[in-house]
Amino acid sequence: MAESMLGLKRSHRCTEVNNSMIGNEVTVMGWVQKSRNKGGIIFVDLRDRSGILQVIFEEANCGAESFAKAEKLRSEFVVAIVGKVAKRGGAINENLATGDIEVIASDIRILAEADTPPFPIEENSKTKEELRLKYRYLDLRRPDLQKNIMMRSKVTTLTRAFLAENGFIEIETPTLCKSTPEGARDYLVPSRVHPGNFYALPQSPQIYKQLLMCSGYDRYFQIARCYRDEDLRADRQPEFTQIDMELSFVDVDDVIEVNERLLAKLFKETIGVEVSLPIQRMTYAEAMERFGSDKPDLRFGMELKNVTDVVKDCEFVVFKGAIENGGSVRGINVEGQGAMPRKKIDALVDFAKGYGAKGLAYIAIQEDGSVKSSFAKFMKDEEMTALIDAMGGKAGDLLLFAADKNKLVYDVLGALRVELASQLGLLKKDEYRFVWITEFPLLEYNEELGRYQAMHHPFTMPMEEDLQYIDTDPGRVRAKAYDIVLNGTEIGGGSVRIHQNDIQEKMFGALGFTMESAYEQFGFLLNAFKYGVPPHAGLAYGLDRLVMLMAKEDSIRDVIAFPKVKDASCLMSDAPNVVDPKQLDELGIGINEASSEE
Ligand code: AMO
Ligand code: AMP
Repeated sequence: MAESMLGLKRSHRCTEVNNSMIGNEVTVMGWVQKSRNKGGIIFVDLRDRSGILQVIFEEANCGAESFAKAEKLRSEFVVAIVGKVAKRGGAINENLATGDIEVIASDIRILAEADTPPFPIEENSKTKEELRLKYRYLDLRRPDLQKNIMMRSKVTTLTRAFLAENGFIEIETPTLCKSTPEGARDYLVPSRVHPGNFYALPQSPQIYKQLLMCSGYDRYFQIARCYRDEDLRADRQPEFTQIDMELSFVDVDDVIEVNERLLAKLFKETIGVEVSLPIQRMTYAEAMERFGSDKPDLRFGMELKNVTDVVKDCEFVVFKGAIENGGSVRGINVEGQGAMPRKKIDALVDFAKGYGAKGLAYIAIQEDGSVKSSFAKFMKDEEMTALIDAMGGKAGDLLLFAADKNKLVYDVLGALRVELASQLGLLKKDEYRFVWITEFPLLEYNEELGRYQAMHHPFTMPMEEDLQYIDTDPGRVRAKAYDIVLNGTEIGGGSVRIHQNDIQEKMFGALGFTMESAYEQFGFLLNAFKYGVPPHAGLAYGLDRLVMLMAKEDSIRDVIAFPKVKDASCLMSDAPNVVDPKQLDELGIGINEASSEE
């Protein structure tokens, strides 16, 4: 039977009890991690969010009634215990913060009994993730998740304090909005009052924060929930959180400067990591050329080399064909892997094909200097030598080449580089390499739509020196946009915004909007700009990704209290679910039976 606390008041969390308190009486409350009955003496490990404390029951100290209750304890019972702090009688447990002390119980209340949990509540659980997510409230009791969730809270607390100190004002913006142009699919919410009309959940507070700049708030921030209906991966959730900010009267360097100080503070005070400032900057063009990616992982080398010129006259049709089609041939040198077995190389070829490559050509340089290669037979000896030299190939190295359109070559080698680093154990989680990626292209051509699309969003400012190309050669225009990348993950991004009417019109022109259609979508923003808009710029971090990297986790699910799975459902609550037909009637919504899911 569950008892009440009956006037007991908790005096300490488990690990707040320490060896300076020997002889003192304490009252602790928490969950039974485990209980061992050794005849006349019962050992209980008591757990709360701070950690574990050992409690000892002996009839001579606690009396017959409490001893009888202690005998009934099982894992996950909730108890309140009164007792005296003592030096540990048995062996000291080095793994526990409270490993050299114990509490000699004098009284106990069983506050709640518990069924046997479907999996053990312990660190480094081997339990399947689906089961953990179904019983997330139990999973969240595990110390590793508790550490992550508490770390996340520390990050938001520090962020709020830092931004307030730096003149930012926290303002909430709506989550029932008009669709924002962030590029992903919207989550829609039907309106009952306006049948047939829908709100969109925000993909980000982008337009609102720009309006707040128009309204004179100068420096805004928000820890904002965002919603995007896109394919999920380990670092993507349908709802996620941004640390979102916008600043007036600033340019690129001002945004970067304040954010570098924020990052340095967060890393120092949360995980004790010193971020050396200023953070390195790299243009988009350089990142693609050297790493095949706009989010390069700088913890290891294996840079891409362009060998188009070296092989341009060879007879290997794969290389020749790609170059004739306006593409390129590039390679990476996987140092020391020349002896990689054929089977493993074939697996890399398959990996490359997964990124759209038609194949992957290789040269494996043996220790004796001889080579094994998938295409040597098509090459002259001197061409092979020149190619190996260009790649800096030495005895024992493996050279991998992709030949295709530039974008594909970048994608394939960029991904291969990270895959190999992972296989070779080069991705150290305690090494933090930051880089700002700058000068993104303003527009990218969308083959499907047959027109240019904003790479970031339509309000991103072109670089002044490239404005001249916006009508004639839009693909060449670079943007005042920047991403902050950490260990190959984009943790944040932003831009300077367009605040001049004529540039905005040109931008809409390049995107194939008429002014009429632009007004239809963003009229309230464009109108606001007519009444005096300051130059402004901003940035948003993916909070989940930031905390994931700080916590050295591989998935953002491990830093979100109640995450969703790949198909965007919640295994615990079973959302999304079928609703009562009456609710649909009220909304004027009918379900197309052919597309509905049982
Ligand atoms: P962007 O779209 O780059 O910019 O988003 C900012 C950051 O949010 C994180 N992020 C996500 N995290 C988890 N799950 C997702 N599905 C997801 N999508 C994005 C990323 C990303 O860097 N309004 C602009 C910012 C600005 O210009 O100020 C914006 O939303 O870490
Ligand atoms: P093939 O003559 O098609 O068998 O190709 C010879 C070698 O070139 C094989 O090892 C292929 O995997 C490789 N290969 C094919 N297409 C490409 C490509 N686009 N880039 C690099 N290597 C390729």
